[in-house]
Amino acid sequence: MDESIRLITDNSPRIMTWNYDRDRGQLVTLYNKAMASQWNSVTDLDWATDVDPDKLVMTNPSPVQRIVEAATKLPGSPIGSWGEKELAAAGIEFLKASLSQFMHGEQGAMLTAAKIVETVPWIDAKYYASTQTMDEARHTEVFAKYLHEKLGEAYPMNPFLDAQIMALLEDSRWDIAYLGMQIVIESLALAAFGDMLRRTDEPLLKKLLRYVMADEARHVAFGIISLAEYYEQLSEAELKDRQEFMIDNTLRSRSRSTTPEVWERLGVDVDVIVPYLIEAAHTIDLHPQAAFQRGFFSKLVPNTRKLGLLDANKGYLREKWGEAGLLEFEFADDTASDYEQYDAVAQDRAVEAG
Ligand SMILES: [Fe+2]
Ligand SMILES: [Fe+2]
Repeated sequence: MDESIRLITDNSPRIMTWNYDRDRGQLVTLYNKAMASQWNSVTDLDWATDVDPDKLVMTNPSPVQRIVEAATKLPGSPIGSWGEKELAAAGIEFLKASLSQFMHGEQGAMLTAAKIVETVPWIDAKYYASTQTMDEARHTEVFAKYLHEKLGEAYPMNPFLDAQIMALLEDSRWDIAYLGMQIVIESLALAAFGDMLRRTDEPLLKKLLRYVMADEARHVAFGIISLAEYYEQLSEAELKDRQEFMIDNTLRSRSRSTTPEVWERLGVDVDVIVPYLIEAAHTIDLHPQAAFQRGFFSKLVPNTRKLGLLDANKGYLREKWGEAGLLEFEFADDTASDYEQYDAVAQDRAVEAG
């Protein structure tokens, strides 16, 4: 078997519909918007931009980089001899690792959007998911190109992300692909891209992230609009399955912070370095996941509320998330309507047109 490919069996039936009526107004609006805000990965981004990787990672070091730096100062540290040069090299590897997961996640999103085209029963949703498939192709392509042309060799797909996406592609229920991708993973992606965007001054990466985020905000809106309608018709037992799915994907979500491949490439034994990283994080009182988790839940929780999933089954999910302290985000953000505000493509075009 070719090691560069993976076979996945989709257990969801394909659906063709003879009902071409455009009766879902919000989806029609979103589809028209998606057509108007398509951008061109070749001409809208300036690939001739000269990127200095050291400067890129050392201008605003990420939380992980700051922890690594603090770990160099601990007594007995295995990276005690590290200086600027090694810290920059490590920063570049961490950035490559993040961008690699973005790239693999985008390919997963492309396949999921294509699955939705095939499996959703409504024509307006099929049309919209087709535009999303194109968006995700462009996203995969630009992350792959940025890595390849500006930074170097990509990392393999993280096993947690891999398992999460494969489960969506195999599921027999069409709405689970939506719930897992449009609601969970895309909220996660918006938080992660936003985090990187805030830190970076590099103009090419900055514009790339702004344009990708403009598309992602629409994708989340697509999920909310579609699932809010569908979940109105489901039984309490069926909704319970969806609530369990959300619990699995949030409270039981596995740690993503260990990156053994990065340490391997840097020639440091991961089992030896981890206790130092934990101590270093403690010393400088930095929780690398905290800001990111906040960003994630402030999108995920309000969006889940819009689907009616918090309160079904006598507030089953509300209770579980409440115990975990997540309800403070209930009214934090609403990506069903604020995608316009993310539309960097339309904003740039308005400026160009004067
Ligand atoms: Fe995407
Ligand atoms: Fe997306």
